[in-house]
Parts: sequence; C-alpha cells; structure tokens
Amino acid sequence: MRQPPHLALRVRRATIRLIDRARGSLAPWIFEALYGSFALCYDRISKFFFAGQWSVWQRTALDHLEGGRVLELGYGTGDLALEMCSRGYEVMGVDSSPRMHRIARVKLWRGGCQGTLLIGSSAALPLSDGSVDAVVSTFPSSYILSEETWTEAWRVLRIGGSFVIVLSGHLLAVDHRSKLLIRFHSLIYGEQRPTAHLDWSVTPGFDLRFERHANAQGVADLLIARKLV
Ligand SMILES: C[S@@+](CC[C@H](N)C(=O)[O-])C[C@H]1O[C@@H](n2cnc3c(N)ncnc32)[C@H](O)[C@@H]1O
Repeated sequence: MRQPPHLALRVRRATIRLIDRARGSLAPWIFEALYGSFALCYDRISKFFFAGQWSVWQRTALDHLEGGRVLELGYGTGDLALEMCSRGYEVMGVDSSPRMHRIARVKLWRGGCQGTLLIGSSAALPLSDGSVDAVVSTFPSSYILSEETWTEAWRVLRIGGSFVIVLSGHLLAVDHRSKLLIRFHSLIYGEQRPTAHLDWSVTPGFDLRFERHANAQGVADLLIARKLV
C-alpha cells in the first residue's frame, strides 16, 4: 500500500509551490521595474549579480556577426551597441523603454559613437526590407517569443544574414560567491529561463543553430538563426 508523503516532504512541496507562485507574479514586475524606474541601477545590478560575466556573455554575439550593418533589438543600457560601434559596425537599435534609451544614448554619445538608437518595438521595425547584415539581441525578454519579432527580423535582414541571440547565461559554481549567486538566480528565474519556452515554429525562413560559449566562470547559450530566402 502507498504511504502518504512524509510531512516534511509535503511542507517542502507546498513551499516550492508558494515560491513558484510568488516568482510568477513578482519576476515580471521586477524586470519591468529594471527597464523603467530602476534603469539607472541596471548596469550595477547585472554586473554584481552575474559576477561580471554579463558583459562577457553579451560580447559572445560579436563572434557571429558578418557584414557591417547591425540592428540591435532591446539594446538596454547600450553596452553592446557601444562595443559594436567602437569595432566599426554601423549600429542601429530599437528598445521599447524610454529610460533605457536615454541611458544608452548618453553612453554612446560619451563614447563618441554615431549609432542610431530608437524607441520602438521589435514587432514594428522602422527599417526597410533586407537593409541589415545582422540582427542581434542579448538576454531578450518575452518579445523574443513573439511571431511578430521573428517576422520583422526576417524582413529587415538581407538573405544569408543572421539573427544572433544570446539566450541566457549561467555561472559555474567555482567559489562561495558564485554558489550563492546561483541559488539566488534559481529563486528568481526558477529552473527554466523564459526563452526555454520559445516555440520554434515561429521562426520559418531561418536555419537555426545553437552554440555554447564557456569560460572558467560561466556559460552563455546562443541561437544563431540564418535567413534562408
Ligand atoms: C533583459 S533587458 C536586456 C538588455 C540588454 N540587451 C542586455 O543585454 O543587458 C531586455 C530589454 O528589452 C527591451 N524590450 C522589451 N520588450 C521589447 C520589445 N518588444 N521591443 C524592443 N525592446 C524591448 C527592454 O526595454 C529591455 O531594455
């Protein structure tokens, strides 16, 4: 006969359910606040909570860029846009947050860069068909799950151009600090990142390839989607 689960196990399951529910309602709020009212803290928070790996993971996208004209979706505070500019790319960017836009524009201006950063949506890109060599997006929020984003990325890319996405990054448990941070991440994100729910059928017209970039401290997972026709 099956025994009812031990009390400690039932308490553990109930606690996990509670944390899941809290995460479900809190996480979107935390992220929206980070792109809005707390945008000024975004750089410091991402640097601290990912042990300095955030910018390393962002830059993994650069290994997969071909051609000179790049569109960045969700450029955030503009770190990658600035890096691409300083490497000689012609950079355009679209981000929906006016606060992120302000921070990124100042960053590019201080860095002496000429990039064009706009406030807008990945679902309606203000660019003509086939006008860019690459579209790049690092740590995208739920916009990357939408069919409109993929339709627009396909439209603005030239044939053979790539949509390069840094889907996620995770720290390796190499010391006390990283172990603590990993625990914190699983509390915030749960076991799966939002992009784990991407329905690949929203990406017709692309050839998909997954890549993993690793160093001693962490791992970044990328998706490179090449426009076929
Ligand atoms: C997690 S942040 C990533 C920012 C930056 N790429 C990075 O690596 O730190 C997601 C960014 O996407 C922007 N965003 C959200 N929805 C968007 C959409 N539909 N179109 C364009 N940008 C969007 C947010 O304002 C935010 O700046």
